[in-house]
Parts: sequence; C-alpha cells; structure tokens
Amino acid sequence: MSVPRVAPVDFSHDRAEVARAIEQLMARELQDTKGPVADAIRYALRGEGKRLRAILVIAGYRAAGGTGDVSALAAAIEVVHAYSLVHDDLPCMDDDDMRRGRPTVHRVFGVPAATAAGMAMVPLAALSADAAAEAMGLAPAVRGNIVRTLMRASGAGGMIGGQLLDLEGEGLSLDLEQLERIHRCKTGALIEASIRIGGLAAGAAPAIEEAFGRYGASIGLAFQIADDVLDITATTNQLGKTAGKDVQFRKSTYPALLGIAGAEARADSLVREACLGLHELGVLTPELEFLAQFVVARQS
Ligand code: IPE
Ligand code: IPE
Ligand code: MG
Ligand code: MG
Ligand code: MG
Repeated sequence: MSVPRVAPVDFSHDRAEVARAIEQLMARELQDTKGPVADAIRYALRGEGKRLRAILVIAGYRAAGGTGDVSALAAAIEVVHAYSLVHDDLPCMDDDDMRRGRPTVHRVFGVPAATAAGMAMVPLAALSADAAAEAMGLAPAVRGNIVRTLMRASGAGGMIGGQLLDLEGEGLSLDLEQLERIHRCKTGALIEASIRIGGLAAGAAPAIEEAFGRYGASIGLAFQIADDVLDITATTNQLGKTAGKDVQFRKSTYPALLGIAGAEARADSLVREACLGLHELGVLTPELEFLAQFVVARQS
C-alpha cells in the first residue's frame, strides 16, 4: 500500500475496556432473558472482533477533547455491528459457516435463534447507548442525538438498506457508482456513526462532528474496499471467515471492477482524503491517523 505509515498506536487497553463493557452490558440487559436467544447474543458479542467501530468511538471522543470513560458507549456500537454479522452470515444472506474463527451463530444455535438474536440486538444496542450516555452525565438532547445517529446508520438508509442492495446485486454487473453506494451504506454508515458518536459524547462543535462524519464515511468505504480485496488475497484461516465468498456469490466488488491494484489505490486515496480533512481542522490525532491507515493495511 502506498499510504505513508505513521507510528503504530497500541489500543490493547481500550480493547480490554470495551470487552469489559460488553460483559457488563450483557450482565445488565440479558439477566431476565433465558434460553438459546440470550446464549446466541452472548456468543455473538464475545467473538474475537477487531472492535474497530468501538475504537473509533473512543478515538473520536479523545480527539474532540473527551477525557472520561466512553467504553460503555463504544460497546453499544459493537452490538449493532455484531448483529449485522449474525444476519450477514444467515443462509438467506451470505450463508457462511465461519465467523471470527468460530462456527457462525446459526451453525451453533440454529437459524431461528440466530435470526431472533440479531433482531433483539437492535433494541439492545439502542438501550445500551442511551444508558451509557446517561451514565456519562450527558444532557438528554445529546443522548437523543447519539441514539438517533446510531439507529439511523443501522436502518434502511444505512447498514441494513445497504445489505439489501448487496443481496439484490448478486449476479448483476453493477457499475462503480452503484457499488460505491452499497459499500457506503452497508459498511460506511456504521463506521461514520462511530466516530460521530465519539464526537457527540465529547461535546464536539457541529463543524468538528461534520468533519468526523466525512472522515468516517471515507475510511468506511475504504474499509469495505479492503474487505473485498482480502476476500481474494487472504486465507480463511487468516480472516477467521470463509475467503472467496464474493466470487462464489457473484457479488460486484471493487477488485472485480478496478483490479486489485486499482481497488487498493482507491482505498489509499480515501484514507489520504480522510486524514487531510481532519488535519486542516487541526483535529487529526495520531490515533485517528493510525486508524485510517489500519483500515487499508490490515491483514484480517
Ligand atoms: C466485517 O467487519 C464486516 C464488514 C463490514 C466487512 P470487521 O472486519 O470489522 O469484523 P470484526 O468485527 O473484526 O469481526
Ligand atoms: C458485510 O459485508 C457488511 C455488513 C454489514 C455485515 P460482507 O458480507 O462483505 O462482510 P463479510 O466479508 O462477510 O465479513
Ligand atoms: Mg454480505
Ligand atoms: Mg458476508
Ligand atoms: Mg466481505
């Protein structure tokens, strides 16, 4: 990749805090839920993900001057993401057997429990985000804005809308404009919401929140371009999910349209654009610069 590398940032402490917050969220919100649906939710949330969206909440919060503990709010975003993976893997979607190095949720708990678990994770995420924002002492208007930002990004105009377009596009020859729209919705929207929410929690000025949104949208698209490339270039073992799925399902992808080098160049240019936008406003922290580059340099 041609983007110049910045010094790596160690997020292991933040990842541990997010893992702890996810455990607390499950203990609080699932205490009265028994049976396979609750077990399926726990299994999905405990999967070894990169936690990129949670880390973006944290890094955005700090870049906007936040000094408190935002890990519970960051955990709520991971609930939406984990749900999107549970449903993405269902037989009616990408029909995958492996996720995060383990059997997919429906392979362990069955399709009905996996479907219900995914659906239950949407209100779980909204309630958790609201509770986390309240515990941080944020004003009701800010809490509302955070929950709305998360739910809008997850909805028909965002993640789930993009997922439907992705399925409808199977076997078709979509052009670059159509594909970009799908990727921006199915993956970009939640990544954009993550950093925006970090900004909102820190009380960022609207101009900064908007700049965070542009950064998030750009690295979100770059993230899915990199995912398309890795689907071809990486192994199942490396990814912890089945490689080669996109060709199998005749999905339109960036490497199919631009070639691998062309797709990588597009992702690199999005990362540069994302960093430049924040740099111009003086809010490009080393953390946000590293995360932008991680999106395209990652190997899993
Ligand atoms: C996978 O996301 C789904 C896409 C949007 C491409 P991640 O690659 O962030 O998955 P985890 O959370 O690390 O498992
Ligand atoms: C999924 O995109 C995006 C989601 C919203 C989950 P993919 O279908 O390419 O994700 P993977 O490759 O299965 O993780
Ligand atoms: Mg998919
Ligand atoms: Mg998939
Ligand atoms: Mg993929």
